Amino acid sequence: MTFKKYFNRMVIVKKIAVYPGSFDPITNGHIDIITRGLRMFDELIILVAYNPNKSSLFSVEERMDLVRACLAGNNIRVDCSSGLLVDYVRSKGANVILRGLRAVSDFEYEFQMALINRRLNRDIETVFLMTGYQWFYTSSNLIKEAAGLGGSVKGLVPDIVNERLEQMFAKVKE
Ligand code: PNS
Repeated sequence: MTFKKYFNRMVIVKKIAVYPGSFDPITNGHIDIITRGLRMFDELIILVAYNPNKSSLFSVEERMDLVRACLAGNNIRVDCSSGLLVDYVRSKGANVILRGLRAVSDFEYEFQMALINRRLNRDIETVFLMTGYQWFYTSSNLIKEAAGLGGSVKGLVPDIVNERLEQMFAKVKE
């Protein structure tokens, strides 16, 4: 068999990963994980997922729009889901959940989530990337709290998110 024929017969399996989160809003810490994730996987789906333990500032559509705006030009897909994460991952033909891991405080929650997801579907693995040291102390929640009290979060979030936060909190103060 010629190499060309052999090559055409090969099934090329794409490594697809899903990066789920609340992204309320997307921060530079998230962007760092996404940029590094893009080097590891053929396709990365950023999933704005429902977290029953959190109330959100931005609507799901707005969060998705901000993710798209911040990552324009990158090879990513942005989607949302209010169902079980592992079911979504399987429905996309993916088998990896990508998560960022910050300080020790994240560990217990992330460990529990990875284990429950593994129990729910043993074919799906959670892969963790350590958050870049510049973003170790930040989170969407802290950023919202600081911005809501008039603090500057410039440099912790993409400029477009900073502008949106300023508009949002100016509206709240009116
Ligand atoms: O950014 P977050 O809020 O830490 O992300 C948490 C998220 C959305 C990934 C998690 O709550 C989740 O997976 N939600 C989907 C519902 C689900 O599958 N729950 C069971 C596994 S914990």
